[in-house]
Amino acid sequence: MKFFVDTADVAAIKELNDLGMVDGVTTNPSIILKSGRDILEVTREICGIVSGPVSAEVVALDAATMISEGRKLAEIAPNITVKVPLTWDGLQACKVLSGEGKMVNVTLCFSVNQAILAAKAGATFISPFIGRLDDINLDGVELISDIRQVYDNYGFDTQILAASIRTVNHVTQCALVGADVMTAPPSVIKAMVNHPLTDSGIAQFMKDWAKTGQKIL
Ligand code: E4P
Repeated sequence: MKFFVDTADVAAIKELNDLGMVDGVTTNPSIILKSGRDILEVTREICGIVSGPVSAEVVALDAATMISEGRKLAEIAPNITVKVPLTWDGLQACKVLSGEGKMVNVTLCFSVNQAILAAKAGATFISPFIGRLDDINLDGVELISDIRQVYDNYGFDTQILAASIRTVNHVTQCALVGADVMTAPPSVIKAMVNHPLTDSGIAQFMKDWAKTGQKIL
């Protein structure tokens, strides 16, 4: 499973990228707001760090303006993925931009039917939002699993990008049901290392090592 990092925090991206944990980056208007930076400037900086797909989202609601915004965003770097919302206009923009050879991430997906439409419109990535489904007492991981089955049934090559990941368990569950990619905030990716038995195991080893009176260096 590929790891995208869901942030525009350049320091956090660098830290994870140096460890080989970053296959791409996703942003959205809320993430740009949180960064406090200019979208073109921060996205260019991110594309200088990460060689994989970097999603930058259009903000227009009509297809023609989405296409113009997408073309402008795609000029930032060759690894830009234009992110469009899962509306009829977004699908029209997806079809045109993907036809021009640009990577397109269709975002705000909440149903299998929406995912089918995005695949047929040529999406490179479909982004089902699992956390936001869980927030309203629905099952976000089940949606990933259902899209996986349908895409496999018909050989759609659109990659399933599990988004709106809130917990380390979401990551495990998405991997188990076959998401191609997951995007999560740096805090969730870093929390994946934690296990209480690792901590207690280290504590015991340190205690016993001190008793040996030995040194390695
Ligand atoms: C990424 O592509 C999405 O925009 C992001 O994962 C949404 O996450 P949220 O539901 O936590 O805002």
